[in-house]
Amino acid sequence: MCGIIGYVGKNKRAQEVIMEGLKRLEYRGYDSAGIAYCTENNKLNIIKKQGEVKNLKEILPIEASNLGIGHTRWATHGEPSEINCHPHKQGKITIVHNGSIELDYLKMAKNELTNEGYNFKSLTDTEVLAALLDKLYAETNDINKALVEFQKQVIGSYALGIIVDDNYDKMYAIRKDSPLIIGINNDENYIASDICAISKYTTNYMVLENGEFAELTATGIKCFDENGLAIEKDIKTHNPELDDNDKGIYDTFMEKEIHQQPNVFKKMVNSYMNIDLNSANETIEKAFSNVDEQFNYLSENLFCNKIGDYSKFNNISIVACGSAYYAGLIGKKLIEKYAKIPVNVETASEFRYADQLFIDDKSLVIAISQSGETADTLGAIERANQYGCKTLGIINRTETSIGRKVDKVLYTTAGAENSVATTKAYSAQLTMLALFALNIVNNNKDLTATEKIEILTAIKELPNQMESLLNAEAMAKYNEIATNIYNKESLFYIGRGIDHYIGLEGALKSKEIACINSQAISAGELKHGPLSLIEKGTPVIATITDENIAQKTLSNVKEAYSRGAKIYLNITEDLYNKAGDISNYDVIKIPNTHPLFQSNLAVIPLQNIAFDLAEKKGKNIDKPKNLAKAVTVE
Ligand code: G6P
Repeated sequence: MCGIIGYVGKNKRAQEVIMEGLKRLEYRGYDSAGIAYCTENNKLNIIKKQGEVKNLKEILPIEASNLGIGHTRWATHGEPSEINCHPHKQGKITIVHNGSIELDYLKMAKNELTNEGYNFKSLTDTEVLAALLDKLYAETNDINKALVEFQKQVIGSYALGIIVDDNYDKMYAIRKDSPLIIGINNDENYIASDICAISKYTTNYMVLENGEFAELTATGIKCFDENGLAIEKDIKTHNPELDDNDKGIYDTFMEKEIHQQPNVFKKMVNSYMNIDLNSANETIEKAFSNVDEQFNYLSENLFCNKIGDYSKFNNISIVACGSAYYAGLIGKKLIEKYAKIPVNVETASEFRYADQLFIDDKSLVIAISQSGETADTLGAIERANQYGCKTLGIINRTETSIGRKVDKVLYTTAGAENSVATTKAYSAQLTMLALFALNIVNNNKDLTATEKIEILTAIKELPNQMESLLNAEAMAKYNEIATNIYNKESLFYIGRGIDHYIGLEGALKSKEIACINSQAISAGELKHGPLSLIEKGTPVIATITDENIAQKTLSNVKEAYSRGAKIYLNITEDLYNKAGDISNYDVIKIPNTHPLFQSNLAVIPLQNIAFDLAEKKGKNIDKPKNLAKAVTVE
């Protein structure tokens, strides 16, 4: 993982630009940070510090500098420490690195370079790359030739920012399987893992593709292909409105992002279905004529052109990681139930290395990813592409590596998500999967007029229902529950079907940010082992939204209660009224909506409980221990 940034220019102090960029890149890792910059008297300073970027900022001297590279780290090779922190220098080469080098190759290269006289201070793969490039540069006396040879030799993923001692007016960048962009401005140029790192300064950028490298000065950029031949690149423009670096009235990004969910839902529906959820004049009938129109538009222009009519696929595979994977599980249930197409959901890390994939040109593979950069999801799509199937990305960010690899992208438009633990982007993935299923049913003409009205009514009511789960009374309830749970050693989430998948997301949230040992268990499986973990007072949160299986889950809840569990029900209002005697349980009531959108509501209490647990435990909520937001290594 890790974030890298570089600056060369006449207008600004390199350190200032780099520190601002590193701050914005911290979502990629924050266990240590470092910077290398060239001072006015032609000296290279390298400064590193363990911990968050702010620690580095505190010790950074204020000096004039017009070129520099910086790095914020998520450790892969070697523990988080000042020694392992980037930049790494060997001979005349100083580099920052995002990516990870294959262990076999690394061992071999490190041995060879050690035999040739290089000494390694750190445990990182990056220092070996610096030594290799230094050796190749010494042999060729030409950095371009050295970079071409470097590409041929190195096995693994890398995006590098490079400073060469012989010329402190130039900076180099090269990439393979880790993202890197080049920012362009008058008398200054940049490199960065992500445009958000530099969008304060420029919105014009180029994307460096695999195998390409570039030489940057303050006034020019030269790009080369893997053979070292000069190439021209398109200039793209970033929309800075997509960045959102302000916490507003909230203390953490996570809290803000949880509260943005009703608006995210509105925005998605407005843009994909052309229904103005803010307009009181929007009648349901009028809205639905727009829906037909909008869905036809989607089918003809988005869906068919590159992928074909979704209803014509024999099967669908969904690949994703983390919360996106859990959203995919819910997507499977919705697509199978409504669109009647079999769906296989697999974590991308398993899918990409499966011995055999049962997909062909009649299959659709959907990658779900907030960041669009997750290495395993990207790898899964690359694997799928080998089978001649069609691929679709459900992605929250524009201009991403996964976005470039799939045939078609549907954007979730949740806006920038800063907190490592996803909330609004996950919710937007659920919405997109519901719309996806709905689109197929609609295309198949399988919806009756009554069903259409029901769905439209649900869509119109949903933002207000979400708000009702975020009002002061609801927040007080989550807080009260968290007060009872936060000092417990473990926490269980149970449910069946979609309710189990919501539990998986709830458990992930409390693991991620509150560091509580949380397990989500399919309620029917409780008695096949996990029940032995239930003791007096063990908290069990049961989600119950599906009428067909509610009674079954309630029986499992009773089994846990009888063995001492403290039960919290996360239950829809209708099912609460039908549940019988549940007076011994603590209850959160969720408004009822159409099953396509019920998960968007049911997850909100679980997100908030995890948030409150983390707050009570004094955790760093936006930047949980050992984690990062964009996982660009496998
Ligand atoms: C990391 C994040 C999770 C996210 C997962 C997949 O683990 O911390 O919140 O669900 O990556 O990320 P993606 O960007 O592909 O959705």
